[in-house]
Amino acid sequence: MTAHPQPPRSTATATRAARAPGGWPVVGHLPHLLRAPLSFLGSLPAHGDLVEIRLGPRPAFVLCHPELAKQVMADGRTFDRIGPLYEGSRAALGNGLATCPHADHRRQRLLMQPAFRAEHLAGYADVMRAGIATVVDRWQPGAVVDIVDEMFALTTTVAVRTLFGSDVDDHDIGELRDSLDTFLRGVYVRALLPAVDSVPTPNSRRYARALATWRTHVTRIVADRRAGGADQAERTDGHDLLSRLIAARDDDGGAMTERELHDQVAVLILAGAETTSSTLAWTLHLVANHPDAERALHAEVDAVLDGGIATLDDVPRLPWTTKVIRESLRLYPPAWVLPRTTTRDVDLAGRRVRAGSTIVFSPYILHRHPGFHDDPDRFRPERHSTGVGDSDRSAPDPWSRSSFVPFGSGPNKCIGDTFALTETTLALASIAARWRLRPADSRPVRPVPRSVLTPSRLRMRPTPRHAHPPAADA
Ligand code: HEM
Repeated sequence: MTAHPQPPRSTATATRAARAPGGWPVVGHLPHLLRAPLSFLGSLPAHGDLVEIRLGPRPAFVLCHPELAKQVMADGRTFDRIGPLYEGSRAALGNGLATCPHADHRRQRLLMQPAFRAEHLAGYADVMRAGIATVVDRWQPGAVVDIVDEMFALTTTVAVRTLFGSDVDDHDIGELRDSLDTFLRGVYVRALLPAVDSVPTPNSRRYARALATWRTHVTRIVADRRAGGADQAERTDGHDLLSRLIAARDDDGGAMTERELHDQVAVLILAGAETTSSTLAWTLHLVANHPDAERALHAEVDAVLDGGIATLDDVPRLPWTTKVIRESLRLYPPAWVLPRTTTRDVDLAGRRVRAGSTIVFSPYILHRHPGFHDDPDRFRPERHSTGVGDSDRSAPDPWSRSSFVPFGSGPNKCIGDTFALTETTLALASIAARWRLRPADSRPVRPVPRSVLTPSRLRMRPTPRHAHPPAADA
């Protein structure tokens, strides 16, 4: 990768189409996507701005230029969420906001948006703080922790408790988490090889069982809340997400049906839990391996938190923590690849693309593109500007550029972006205020591209940063 950025090529009209080399007869580039998808994707921008690959006999077009990506993501009617990945996800988890096609999207987004208003964030942040306090209190000096599991447990607990309030017990949360984990491990392979379940294997049976458990729990929780009506709403003060979804009305005054509620709940946990947990896991890994960034983080959290759990009000006073999270999202965007399917013939980068073609949007490609990010593979939190305490306010800020899109762009842009940034900032600051983490394994940590880009295995050893940590105050 080059150390000097090429000037951004700014318009989609200047873009050029190309074909990726190295496709195999019959299977095309599938072996690359199954074995080493990241290095394969990372190699594509060298060939062009819209690069044709082959998924078996089918062509797919990968967007390797931010302006082309912006154009595609802005037009959900032409570039729709249909095709094998979405059909598989809808069959498994339902037709919710993160999986629905364009035809259903506007109504669903209108119904969901109020639950994500800024004024509700303080309540959600309290739930996050309680979950984070449990984690930092549970760790023992020197005892190895599996960070991927710990962060997944934290973010599923936060997702379930913000959705359902305190109605769900720890046992149910555990079962929901395990079934979601099995689904997330299986969905990427099923998108590339839809026939994988046609032969029953222990794997496919486990996958089917996990989905059945998932459906049973979600259906029961939603039905209980409906049946509990006013009593239960009073108990939760109507402050959890589910109460807000039950109260939501569309343009015609219509409420969500039972089925819609079920699907939205499933999709919110699906879209919100592993994305957030893998961001946290990557961030803790990056911090442990970059002593200067770690020192700056410790100095900031010591000054602001004094060993306590971060609150929502602390977030603006944690600019370095925020930059570290953003840089982690740039290097390891959890939603690393998002497909679309063309609903009509369309011209892209001077090439005719037929209706029914697969288009691939990949934040990973755009974030690592040497033409748009200086020294793209290096962890440099200072490249981001938060506007607070920046020594160089004129530095370009990837946050506002179309080549930095961890939360997507256009009408489908993540509805939970502020929620996720709040949760990751509170968690990173609170963990760093109490613990220093060091790798417990000499094995290198590799990215595993499942439906979410996750570290392979991340075992770390916490040591206390202060002799007498203050009692958790969440
Ligand atoms: C670091 C954490 C997260 C990342 C990186 C992330 C990333 C994304 C991306 C890239 C999209 C666009 C998908 C597309 O265009 O098809 C998206 C959509 C979505 N996200 Fe997130 N997300 C995160 C956390 C969350 C959280 C915490 C929630 C919910 C509480 C959430 C709920 C959703 C939903 C419902 C959509 C669909 C939006 C729509 O189509 O209108 N996400 N997310």
